[in-house]
Amino acid sequence: MEFNSPVGQTPLDARRVVTQPLDRIDGPLKVTGTARYAYEYRDEFPNVAYGFVLGASIPKGRIEAIDTSAAERSPGVLLVLTHETMPKQDGKGRNNAPQMQGPEIKQAEQAVAFVVAEGFEQARSAARLIKIRYVASDGQFDLAAVKDAGKSVKNAPDSTVGSFDEAFTAAPIQIDATYTTPDQAHAMMEPHASIAKWEGDKLTVYTANQMIHWAQDGISSTLGIPKEKVRVQSAFVGGGFGSKLFIYADPILAAVAAQKIGRPVKVALTRPQIFNHTNHRPATIQRVRLGAGRDGRILAVGHDAHSGNQPGGSPENAADQTKALYAGENRLIRTRLSELNLPKGGAMRAPGEAVGLLALECAMDELAEKVGIDPVELRILNDVQYDPEKGPSRPFSSRKLVECLRAGAERFGWSKRDATPGSVRDGRWLVGMGVSSGYRPNPVQTSGARVGIDRHGVLTIETQMTDIGTGSYTILGQVGAEMMGLPIEKVRVKLGDSDFPLSSGSGGSWGANSASSGVYVACRKLRDTLAQKAGFNSTDVAFADGRISVGGRSRTLAEVAGPSGVTVTDQATFADMEEQFVQASFAGHFCEVGVDMDSGEARVRRMLSVCAAGRIINPKTSRSQCLGGMTMGIGAALMEEQVVDGRFGYFVNHDLAEYHVPVHADIPDLDVVFLDDVDDKSSWLKAKGVGELGICGVGAAVANAVYNATGVRVRDFPLTLDKILPGLPGQA
Ligand code: MOS
Repeated sequence: MEFNSPVGQTPLDARRVVTQPLDRIDGPLKVTGTARYAYEYRDEFPNVAYGFVLGASIPKGRIEAIDTSAAERSPGVLLVLTHETMPKQDGKGRNNAPQMQGPEIKQAEQAVAFVVAEGFEQARSAARLIKIRYVASDGQFDLAAVKDAGKSVKNAPDSTVGSFDEAFTAAPIQIDATYTTPDQAHAMMEPHASIAKWEGDKLTVYTANQMIHWAQDGISSTLGIPKEKVRVQSAFVGGGFGSKLFIYADPILAAVAAQKIGRPVKVALTRPQIFNHTNHRPATIQRVRLGAGRDGRILAVGHDAHSGNQPGGSPENAADQTKALYAGENRLIRTRLSELNLPKGGAMRAPGEAVGLLALECAMDELAEKVGIDPVELRILNDVQYDPEKGPSRPFSSRKLVECLRAGAERFGWSKRDATPGSVRDGRWLVGMGVSSGYRPNPVQTSGARVGIDRHGVLTIETQMTDIGTGSYTILGQVGAEMMGLPIEKVRVKLGDSDFPLSSGSGGSWGANSASSGVYVACRKLRDTLAQKAGFNSTDVAFADGRISVGGRSRTLAEVAGPSGVTVTDQATFADMEEQFVQASFAGHFCEVGVDMDSGEARVRRMLSVCAAGRIINPKTSRSQCLGGMTMGIGAALMEEQVVDGRFGYFVNHDLAEYHVPVHADIPDLDVVFLDDVDDKSSWLKAKGVGELGICGVGAAVANAVYNATGVRVRDFPLTLDKILPGLPGQA
């Protein structure tokens, strides 16, 4: 069923189950350790063998000689694969991940050998016995040291409206500031891991992945086998944040080895391998120029975003949100890309906006100060209800940024903020408040589901959709329960299996809205089918309390379903409404920090996010998404940074001890509010994505609070104490 026009009343509007803050239905499985993750399947694989990936120790060059003889003689070793023994694989498809196809090295920790043994320790120790002679060539690892300003990118064309240069030059108030953000790691809890098993020519892979159909496509086309012969399972995923959108060495090498030795093979990447073998959020250099009138109205907006990636890689689209967030008749938005030889850059939670808003929203803070108006008021003054590039003919489907900012300012006590930096003290802490806007597009994707009522009146929902910690199990169960008039206890949700109907998967904040739509359309079909089967030829049938009723007649779902039950499948598709509406979700973030006046250490004291993200399907799981996003935003502002070893071209702080993410002690009570926002143009759910909105802009609110606390403006993220301290009062 296609979504192609604004939706009217639906059975979901009853909101008996949908919009309720239900606990996660998979919660008990998680807290009792019975939810199984990719590496944890044991009973099914009594004769499993263990693989260990050996990664390249140079970032660029070639293997001149590789000697595996000692490894092969090592105890318990069953197989050693290298580029000399690997079967030929296809590297063309967008999801393909060919491994060890030649002697050429393109990045650190690229797989160069795969050792399979009876035990994990045996495989790891044998891998250390492999002798490799490399010829290293020079590489480029430091974006700041790249001589050129990068090349333009086909998929991110320059966006020019009016005449930016003239308007900016003529503007009475100008901000021209450059912000830098470092490489960042997803640092999700569950490592990348896979178990591969062959039965004849059929391959089953248990793997940690966000996108079942992309993984199935990538595995099948890399190995050159038909898609129907590959089953991918990913029932529980311990976080992804974009790292598990695509596949890496683990499923491919496990599959090849399993076929060669005729036994299942399991492999997990080590934490240091994850930091360098998989992808990361690339560093950026961003120049933001804002020209405004003395009243604060923006006349010219310019955002230049520069990032690097491996040859053939994509840029970090850090300037994208600037196309639509604020008004201004003259606009110049440019994306530039340079070649680097670091590990591959890619999507990490809110790719583009997460770092783009660090720059834009700090620049807005700088503009507010220069104009001399309140930063909340500056944002409200420059609100625009339509696409500022296209004009009023392309409105936002719904846009409540102003409401987010006003409600947030009220709740946070913004009026108590002293606009003069460095003027509030609490003991040895300098205290300040900051604000930022949050913005994240709201894409949707094709998504289907199979739904059935059995003879006990229990609803079972099956879809390829994944739950990466977000709450998919629960919200899909809620949608099914609401549609069929059942309590949540009468609903079973099965996810993460390529044998189920294709789904949107978890990515780009499209999961909840799209996958719920799939369940919604399938349940509509199930309602029709049951109504007909019950002999109720009416559109007025009601589904409530486990019964289907019309007029005075009523039967239980169990009766109507009969001994063999009733099962149907349908798929939600979305017409292209891009031209008609801009779809996005919005937030106002408010932060109070304390900065230690002796050490320069910044600590968040309290924080509030007010979000307008369409109908909230489950306020509890959505709030969790925001708490996670806020935590990650605080990390981006204050601590997260992958440090590049310029000699060896790899990320040297490649574990969770050295790559600093916030811990409990870094995070105070966080407050999240969702505004009433029902978007009838987004889907039958009238919902929007919330998974990435939570991080978008957060770091800028922290940085702006640090400025308000201290008067020190740091434009190089993260704001570690060494950057803040020299500017503090009394530090000559
Ligand atoms: Mo997301 S960065 O599409 O998991």
